[in-house]
Amino acid sequence: MASKFDLVIVNGTVVTASDISSCCIGIKDEKIRALAQSFTDDEIAGAEVIDAEGAYVMPGGIDAHVHLCQDLKTGPHGLGGECADNFETGSRSAIAGGTTTVITFATQTRAEEDRSLIKVVEAYNARAEATGSYADYGFHIIIVRNDADVLENELPVLIQDWGISSCKLFMTYETQRLTDSQLLDVMFAARKNAITTMIHAENGDMIEWLTDKLEGKGMVAPFYHALSRPPLVEGEATNRAIALAQLIQNPILFVHVGSALGAANVRKAQTMGLPVYAETCPQYFNLTWEDLKRFHSPTCFENSKMICSPPPPPDNSDQEDLFTGLHNGTFTIYSSDHCPFRYDHPHGKPTGVLEDEASMHGESACTGHNIQDLLSRKEGAFRFIPNGIPGVETRLPLLYTGALAAGRITPQKFVELTSTNPAKLYGLYPRKGALMPGSDADLVIWHPEKKFQPFRLTNSQLHHNVDYTPYEGQEFINWPRYTILRGKVVWANGEIKGKPRDGKYQKRGPSQLSHGLPGHDRDPHTVAAWLYK
Ligand code: URP
Ligand code: ZN
Ligand code: ZN
Ligand code: ZN
Repeated sequence: MASKFDLVIVNGTVVTASDISSCCIGIKDEKIRALAQSFTDDEIAGAEVIDAEGAYVMPGGIDAHVHLCQDLKTGPHGLGGECADNFETGSRSAIAGGTTTVITFATQTRAEEDRSLIKVVEAYNARAEATGSYADYGFHIIIVRNDADVLENELPVLIQDWGISSCKLFMTYETQRLTDSQLLDVMFAARKNAITTMIHAENGDMIEWLTDKLEGKGMVAPFYHALSRPPLVEGEATNRAIALAQLIQNPILFVHVGSALGAANVRKAQTMGLPVYAETCPQYFNLTWEDLKRFHSPTCFENSKMICSPPPPPDNSDQEDLFTGLHNGTFTIYSSDHCPFRYDHPHGKPTGVLEDEASMHGESACTGHNIQDLLSRKEGAFRFIPNGIPGVETRLPLLYTGALAAGRITPQKFVELTSTNPAKLYGLYPRKGALMPGSDADLVIWHPEKKFQPFRLTNSQLHHNVDYTPYEGQEFINWPRYTILRGKVVWANGEIKGKPRDGKYQKRGPSQLSHGLPGHDRDPHTVAAWLYK
């Protein structure tokens, strides 16, 4: 007789976005089939059994902001750089940190051959298929131009054929940013196709103006990157994007919100009832300007490892506000913004260093670099250092240590931020992000807290292809013990068990968060009422 289940999890403290209970989970043919107080011996017969020993059992992490295979060597701006992780290495790192689904970015460029979004997605998909992925995966599309024909003809194809229901737009970076009217064009087209607009909200003009001023004073070392992007840069851009979105009644999600000011603007819009969502990331809770200054010596580029946009907040007082945003619902999701730039690579951090000098970058100590030398060449300045830091593997463990175990959020909120809400926001729910009969059996099982020995992280323990972690030496009080992808154990007790072809492409539907909100056709008081007719 065929066994009822393939895999059974017993003795778990099972957590969903709404509930927490001691129960068992039965899995068959990649799906969750049953949750029960207990199973009989007959029911378990033939199944593999995992004893969770009382530890948390949660839906597998969904990291909705991951950069893989996304090289941007398109000139002098902080978005450039060469991605060190492909789908194989990036997803390997994901499963080792409890994440079972990653949503990555396929990006249009301003080059003529990249006009077609569909061609961009096809090319990007080929990169994923070339290596395969350990985790399930999907794509967001980055749109950097407002070609009317492309928006009209291709967005419906993206959603129907590819299940791509989200696009990212930039308000900064010379080669990516859209003007206000271009933002409106793309948001309007996205709204008509039920595609969620993700916004990178920083005022590009402020950044460029400040960068020129800082450079004029010789303030070009990595630390000054943060000064070129004070919180007001995000504050202004979030307010402007909210107004644009409100004008045409378009739901938006702010990616990587890193300032208390940005979070406050989001909160205000939410209080007004606008469909405004926000993502935040581990770097804004675990790094501050102090970390950027830590290595601010005349001979060292070490702090280029901490450069991301928006930058980490100035100090801990901002972090308190961000923690409040985590538990009061301002932040809808918590993603890594994994940007895998190597430190030892000429196209990594710091970028633009001459090839013959690249060998020097292998040194982790702050020796061997003469900053005056580097700064006298334009490539040494912060403007050219690729923005973004790695973190797909540390995302969940950092939130566990810094927020869940610290009593700042409940286990249910942890699940909501890291799995359930990303699934709902990006149209994967309840296939993903849920522990219901019929949901994919994607799980992360933690260590029983009392049995786990806290440890200090070093980069060699991680599974990405990046030669550093910004969290080197930081203490972790738990780590995923098992990661299960559609019923298959892919990570167990510190070992990768999965294969690079385990991951499957995930077609997504429209957002399940903004779905059903008052629509243009039902609100006769705004200009949007006739715009969409
Ligand atoms: O610094 C960051 N976040 N760089 C990565 C690109 C982006 O804007 O997400
Ligand atoms: Zn961004
Ligand atoms: Zn990003
Ligand atoms: Zn060097």
